Amino acid sequence: MTNFISLADVADIDALIQSGRDAKANPFADQHLGHNKTIGLIFFNSSLRTRLSTQKAAQNLGLNVMVMNVGQDSWGLEMEDGTIMNGDKAEHVKEAAAVMGRYCNILGIRAFAGLQDRDKDYSEQVMNQFKKYAAVPIINLESATRHPLQSLADCITIEEFKPVPRPKVVLTWLPHFKPLPQAVANSFCEWMNQRDVDFVVTHPEGYDLAPEFVGNARVTHNQDEAFDGADFIYGKNWSSYIRYGKVLTQDSSWMVTGEKMKLTNNGKFMHCLPVRRNVKVSDEVLDSPQSIVIEQAANREWSAQAVLKAILNNL
Ligand code: CP
Repeated sequence: MTNFISLADVADIDALIQSGRDAKANPFADQHLGHNKTIGLIFFNSSLRTRLSTQKAAQNLGLNVMVMNVGQDSWGLEMEDGTIMNGDKAEHVKEAAAVMGRYCNILGIRAFAGLQDRDKDYSEQVMNQFKKYAAVPIINLESATRHPLQSLADCITIEEFKPVPRPKVVLTWLPHFKPLPQAVANSFCEWMNQRDVDFVVTHPEGYDLAPEFVGNARVTHNQDEAFDGADFIYGKNWSSYIRYGKVLTQDSSWMVTGEKMKLTNNGKFMHCLPVRRNVKVSDEVLDSPQSIVIEQAANREWSAQAVLKAILNNL
């Protein structure tokens, strides 16, 4: 593997999932791979799981790790080419990425969608600028449109918990008062479309995801119908793609409750976290044995380790 920016960078999903499960069973088997090599984890946005799990995975592989919060620990970075830099950004990504690429053998980048300009967000400007100028492999730690390390951890988790060979997996929109990016939902759709699952997406009208991500999923605006017989409920809020970045409704009837989980096939509840309790999902669900959000978050370490191993093997 050269980069891990989207699913398109993965040659064999099953092998990558298995590699994550192998890492979980034997975390230090490949400690030699990262010896005398360095990864830089560069954050334009906050993180708990991505930051800690990727750092831990890198350390399991013997890598040195450097972490930087752009704009707090460093200069603000200008992304536009040809601009007159007389604003608040003191350094251009051309120099910054090139310099980081000299210090690091691999760079992980987190840069969320701005949710102001859909074309700009969906062009993945930050990820592509780093790919262009860093001259080292790039790992997506959540970009404007995708969160593939999360999706890989989700796939590992579904493999571990699926009660039947071809489970019913439901992605449901959840209510939230703030506009959130579509990245996790997009990415989950992208990966589920490549898995042997009965995949359903449910959301209120106006919350359609981009067609290239929805793929062959069945889409319904009836959440109860979607939940019927489901083996996995994957909750996530996202802002509108059509009326880009807007919150069209905060309809609390879309919150996942114990009553709704009764419609499922004793289904498991998943969420990438962080999650606002009793806004998106009730305490009753999160505190029940049906919730596997902690196991899911723990699998972020193994998804990161599988990806890092594949990249290190190719360095
Ligand atoms: N799920 C996830 O990416 O969590 P963080 O935003 O805390 O990294």
